[in-house]
Amino acid sequence: VGFGSVGRRFSELLGGAYGRRLRSAGWRVSVTAIATGRHGMAIDPRGLPLARCRRLVEAGGSLTSLHQGPPVSHTLELVRRAPADVVLEISPLEPRSGQPAIRHVRAALERGLSVITANKGPVAFARARLLALARRRGVGFLHEGAVMDGIPVFNLVERCLPGARVTGFRGVLNATTTRILACLEAGVGAEQALREVQAAGIAEADPGFDLDGWDAAVKACALAAALLGARVRPDAIPRRGIRGLDPERVVAARRRGRRIRLVAEARRRERGRAELRVGPRELPLDDVLASAPSDGVLVLETDLVGDVAIWQGRGGVDQTAYALFSDLMALLAGDGRRFPRG
Ligand SMILES: NC(=O)c1ccc[n+]([C@@H]2O[C@H](COP(=O)([O-])OP(=O)(O)OC[C@H]3O[C@@H](n4cnc5c(N)ncnc54)[C@H](OP(=O)(O)O)[C@@H]3O)[C@@H](O)[C@H]2O)c1
Repeated sequence: VGFGSVGRRFSELLGGAYGRRLRSAGWRVSVTAIATGRHGMAIDPRGLPLARCRRLVEAGGSLTSLHQGPPVSHTLELVRRAPADVVLEISPLEPRSGQPAIRHVRAALERGLSVITANKGPVAFARARLLALARRRGVGFLHEGAVMDGIPVFNLVERCLPGARVTGFRGVLNATTTRILACLEAGVGAEQALREVQAAGIAEADPGFDLDGWDAAVKACALAAALLGARVRPDAIPRRGIRGLDPERVVAARRRGRRIRLVAEARRRERGRAELRVGPRELPLDDVLASAPSDGVLVLETDLVGDVAIWQGRGGVDQTAYALFSDLMALLAGDGRRFPRG
């Protein structure tokens, strides 16, 4: 569900070395259905020709010419009808409700199909409910790509810190604002900085989503859901972005040996609650959150292990496609069915 930058890159992985790794592990993976927003949709139980699908979509065409069987008119119908074992939900994030992605995920799980997603919406807004549904159906709901692309954040805690209690976290989670702040530090004007980041293909189509802190807030809520067991809505947390931040303040901070970054913070509270906030913070240069250049840094605070930091150099489509691949490998290895998360 979704055949944009991430979906198409993932389909390339299947056609190359990563597909060979799956085959050598004994798995034959084919894509039997694709839904898009404006480029049609297609089901073919024998497997769709992925290179042709990419060419069609990249040329602005429609996938519908490849469809076999009775016509299918909307995404939910495709999810309900596609002959499949796993659904990848990689449609765009809607930061205020997480829909329609949550409906797509629920429809797949209700059918007894495992779901892998890089979409933060279902994780931030509905993780506990979707995971409970997955458990009832005996399938997996995996979402490693939802925060920090392919960097193993959720798996780090689940697999490497089993039983440890995460008491809170601090993170720089939005690459666009980090890169804009780095440009401002170097004396580039705010508008020029945004243009440079957009030219690099990092910023969201709607820059307000990054600049006003929505992206960081949704990621913080996704992390809080998975690591703190807390259900917090992104629109309910104190949120300030970097829009309107005086570039002089950024330059002055740098002169004093400090750095301004957009930081998401969370603290576990009793009875499944957590306190979250997102806003610009002035950090000393030796704070790991101020490390540059980097697209993301997350410091997990734990009860016994102390602080554990994970650092992302340059994130993006490749890493996110890899996150889907790693979740698929985990599912195929039986993880999703035997040991659903949560
Ligand atoms: N790009 C990254 O580096 C990255 C990193 C981490 C997480 N993610 C997440 O991964 C997801 C995909 O990102 P992306 O960069 O691939 O986005 P994208 O390039 O904008 O692609 C989105 C895809 O979803 C399709 N779509 C839109 N509405 C749909 C609907 N109702 N039903 C089915 N398909 C629909 C679009 O179709 P049309 O083009 O035809 O409208 C397009 O194929 C997003 O949730 C994003 O937040 C992305």
